[in-house]
Amino acid sequence: MKVISSLKGIYSLTQKHKKLGRKIALVPTMGALHIGHLSLIKAAQKACDTVIVSIFVNPTQFGPNEDYNKYPRNLKKDIDLLSPLKNVAVFAPSQNDMYPEGFDTEVNVGELSSSLCGAKRPGHFNGVATVVLKLFNLVQPDIAFFGLKDYQQQLIIKKMVIDLNLGIRIVACPTMREKDGLAISSRNQYLSTKDRQIAPLLYQALLLAKKKKSLAAAEIFLQKESRIKIDYLVMADANTLRPLKKPAGLTLIAIAARIGKTRLIDNLVLKP
Ligand code: PAJ
Repeated sequence: MKVISSLKGIYSLTQKHKKLGRKIALVPTMGALHIGHLSLIKAAQKACDTVIVSIFVNPTQFGPNEDYNKYPRNLKKDIDLLSPLKNVAVFAPSQNDMYPEGFDTEVNVGELSSSLCGAKRPGHFNGVATVVLKLFNLVQPDIAFFGLKDYQQQLIIKKMVIDLNLGIRIVACPTMREKDGLAISSRNQYLSTKDRQIAPLLYQALLLAKKKKSLAAAEIFLQKESRIKIDYLVMADANTLRPLKKPAGLTLIAIAARIGKTRLIDNLVLKP
């Protein structure tokens, strides 16, 4: 499997594939790869001739008090996991190539970035949109794959693609879960044994809100576990993210919560 770390390397790879008329998929990740990432890569393999998995822990999407320094990094393990896969290459750029000294440009996807995680993590989605646009420019994919686990993120990327005429198809893939319902995340490895046991309550709370068509029952359900601190629990229009009191049309129910020191997010979408 090809592992490319230079900008020159990625340009020549994509140029070569384009000349041969091959369809290119991009799966952007921050590494610490798990079954969730692999599900995106599998979908990409089905749709395209070549899949480029980018691995880059993007500093601009982390707030000053967030986990940038302790975010799990293990490129060798990630490469070992991907090497048996067909038509997959890794793009792992350096910090300096992505953000050379004096870097001073930012993409801001307005209203969609202002609620939910955007409200709780100021600047987060500007960092995400900026790095994803840079990856799009470098890789020039036909299709890019994102997870519905980060619902707001994929919505913001879709909007950026429309607003900036990028001409890239965005595919959103379903959330992969552990057997007990916990959404798989690189951050789950921060959880202590006790916290890991209670983490599935977040998804159970979402299911309860779905069943009762209301957030109140879910809030009461989670109050029973004092180690879970809700950051937000909201119902919103799944396209605009504007808040809703009760389900109406395609409706997103989303949660962010801290368990101990670990912040986890999850969501589900109700169809009308
Ligand atoms: P990361 O958290 O590594 O996630 C990479 C992709 O995997 C995202 O599209 C995310 O939604 C998807 N993903 C994560 N967990 C998943 C799960 N359980 N099921 C399905 N898909 C899942 O998201 C990022 O990185 C970054 O913000 C990035 C887009 C790479 C920009 O830096």
